[in-house]
Amino acid sequence: MQRDSDRANGHAEREANLNQMQTGSGATVALAEPGSIRDPFRPSDYTGMILHAMRLRAPTFGRGSGLDMGVGSGVLLAALGMLGVDRLVGVDIDANAIAATRNLLCDLDLLDRAQLLHGSIWQPVGDERFDIVVANLPHFAATAPSDPDHSPHWSMGGADGRRQLDPFLAGLGAHLKHGGVALITHNAFVGLADTRATLADQGLRAEAVLSTTVSLHPTKTALLEPGIREKYMDDGISRVGPYEFADVHILEIRHR
Ligand SMILES: C[S@@+](CC[C@H](N)C(=O)[O-])C[C@H]1O[C@@H](n2cnc3c(N)ncnc32)[C@H](O)[C@@H]1O
Repeated sequence: MQRDSDRANGHAEREANLNQMQTGSGATVALAEPGSIRDPFRPSDYTGMILHAMRLRAPTFGRGSGLDMGVGSGVLLAALGMLGVDRLVGVDIDANAIAATRNLLCDLDLLDRAQLLHGSIWQPVGDERFDIVVANLPHFAATAPSDPDHSPHWSMGGADGRRQLDPFLAGLGAHLKHGGVALITHNAFVGLADTRATLADQGLRAEAVLSTTVSLHPTKTALLEPGIREKYMDDGISRVGPYEFADVHILEIRHR
């Protein structure tokens, strides 16, 4: 049970978090505006996709412990809690995302089940294994902050889009319980074959359980690595007139 003093401390901490931060476009916004159009951690279409898959696949995963890698607003971690997952662990490299997640979990009375870790990928996690891991990590193929509306850490995945994805995938096998499940967002243009090869080395397999096509914001189109566009045009990236689109999957990953 969360004590009243803890809850009061959480709310006091939330008030203290009314500080300023910069978005990827350099605009300065107040952190504590969850749900507003200026919220730097506002859930995206990718967040909605993974949320849909989490609900769809909920009957197939255990409820003992869950990890959200790259929490942002904390909405996926909160959703795990609402699906009945007992222990909730969230990681983010951005201290402001950790603060936003703490606020959300506090508001939803889920904070007493949660551990929030500030750091990069597996580094703060130790050797714990989870029943369910969710990850909507940055994996846009760009070398500058590529999302105009969100925090600078939101979507930039380096020249091939795999800067955060590769270390996450490399450590996944060691952090999934036997029978555990991971659900991740995966742009088609970062290379499904590379992902499958990294997973196969650990005895893991991936299946696309949900796929769609999303519109790319003009800022993203401008920053997309030209070599990636060339390689994946009409095979993960498509264009209609001036408008550019990307195919995206939710991968479900399990031990073979
Ligand atoms: C695309 S956002 C997703 C946020 C949230 N999970 C959602 O779906 O709305 C990616 C998140 O990963 C975080 N992130 C970026 N690099 C990271 C790293 N090396 N380790 C952990 N988190 C990272 C960002 O700060 C950001 O909050």
